[in-house]
Amino acid sequence: MSSALATFIVLAISLLLIVILSQRQKTKYTSNDPALCRQIIAGVLKHEDQPNILSPHQAKAMANRHLPIAFGIDNSFTQTDSIHASMFVQKVKPLINLSAKQWQGVSEFARVMTNHWIEHGFSGVDRSGGSSCHEGNHDSNMIRVDRNRINIASLAQILSLKVVLCLFFKQRPQDQACDENLLSLAQSINRVWISSKLKSAENDIPRFEDDVLLQTSLANIFGKHDLPEDNPLNLILPSFETMWRIVLRAFLEVRFATGKEVREWRDTMVAFAENPTKLQFEAGAVSPSSNEPRISDTQCVQISPSAKQIVLESLRLYVPTRHVHRAYQWDQAMGTSHEIKSADIEGCHLRSDIWGSDAEIFNPNRWSILTPAQGDAFMPFGCPPFECPAKPTFGPRMIGVLVGSLLAVLEDKEQAKPWNLDCEDTSVLEHLTSGKRLCPHRNAYTDLYLVRSME
Ligand code: HEM
Ligand SMILES: *[C@@H]1O[C@H](CO)[C@@H](O)[C@H](O)[C@H]1NC(C)=O
Repeated sequence: MSSALATFIVLAISLLLIVILSQRQKTKYTSNDPALCRQIIAGVLKHEDQPNILSPHQAKAMANRHLPIAFGIDNSFTQTDSIHASMFVQKVKPLINLSAKQWQGVSEFARVMTNHWIEHGFSGVDRSGGSSCHEGNHDSNMIRVDRNRINIASLAQILSLKVVLCLFFKQRPQDQACDENLLSLAQSINRVWISSKLKSAENDIPRFEDDVLLQTSLANIFGKHDLPEDNPLNLILPSFETMWRIVLRAFLEVRFATGKEVREWRDTMVAFAENPTKLQFEAGAVSPSSNEPRISDTQCVQISPSAKQIVLESLRLYVPTRHVHRAYQWDQAMGTSHEIKSADIEGCHLRSDIWGSDAEIFNPNRWSILTPAQGDAFMPFGCPPFECPAKPTFGPRMIGVLVGSLLAVLEDKEQAKPWNLDCEDTSVLEHLTSGKRLCPHRNAYTDLYLVRSME
């Protein structure tokens, strides 16, 4: 046997061992049992009758320690003392408490902006990679934006970000940074989010100070900030980061996937965007397809799901926060070392023993009768004592407004030139129409385009 072969074998075996060992180290405790998840999140799970010696806020902050490093933030996700953390939540509450007039305004804004992007593309984005975000830079070198083709993930990102900026930073649309800066910020956040999650060792986490792209796109929109507590990302991360992914998937489900042939779902969402009130959110449309023969007289009118039910079903199947992590330490002897326990929220939302054999199917009708076990297993906004302040109203309704706005704008144009989906990877399109659950990964639909048909 040649020594080269021997070396190869030794190398291969060591590599295998390294992989196996590092896998073992990474194996964390994860549960998809709703009751256990609630304990994990509260920071009170016991281990051989021993309580966690970390406080609930310490347990949360230590599990989120990559956030201050990678994003330079300082908010209730990272603060170890309960006073500061709850101050941040108290600051957020009035920002997301919108009046009826504000709901109307934000919904109109969303539709106007979406229509603009659909018609004109994203301003300043010339695909050549150079910055062209200044007036007077529209020279002949600029590659023209393709007005009949728009990236759908970018659309969901820029729409969510624009609305967040408008509401939380009181920026008027005309003061706002151009689309290129907004998309660049959205993409930087996404990139850093992914790379900071993959790293387990503290030294490997990408550092906010070193990230020129993230820093620049942030400074271009907000100017410079000095202290982490003034970082605009304190507000942008919890809101934008969750919002765009759920909006994208709900839109795809209703318009192009399970809801492709279900007119009522679209109509219901569009009607809500046009009239974003509590009443409209909860109103189930009476199905107009009643020319079909009735099954029985007692089942007189078929009610199609409300916008709220469509949003809840989207939150179940595509929960943006798929796992919630907490740090645990059982005794002082462990020194500063702790272990991470994870609540598998997505797992809770997909259990067939709780949701039925169609647990992986998008079915808004399931929300008309909910079992106690289902209510207990549904935690898209986490659970006490850290429940998301956007849970009661803002989160679900804003998802409805944004999805409804996207649908409304495509609908308008439909008679003339319908919009279709396009993707270089045709298996993505096939999967979309297969009736199966959409792909939950952060980067799954970044190559998907809306294309205006040409005839
Ligand atoms: C679709 C929308 C949203 C989803 C799915 C969502 C989800 C969540 C989840 C799962 C948590 C708990 C995290 C944990 O326990 O570690 C949380 C907390 C939080 N969310 Fe949201 N969120 C959404 C929108 C928003 C928005 C728009 C804001 C506004 C700024 C916001 C602000 C917060 C804050 C401040 C907390 C921390 C609460 C605390 O520490 O007690 N969220 N969110
Ligand atoms: C929201 O604002 C209204 C007045 O604008 C106020 O009466 C209400 O208490 C606020 N709700 C919350 C949860 O802050």
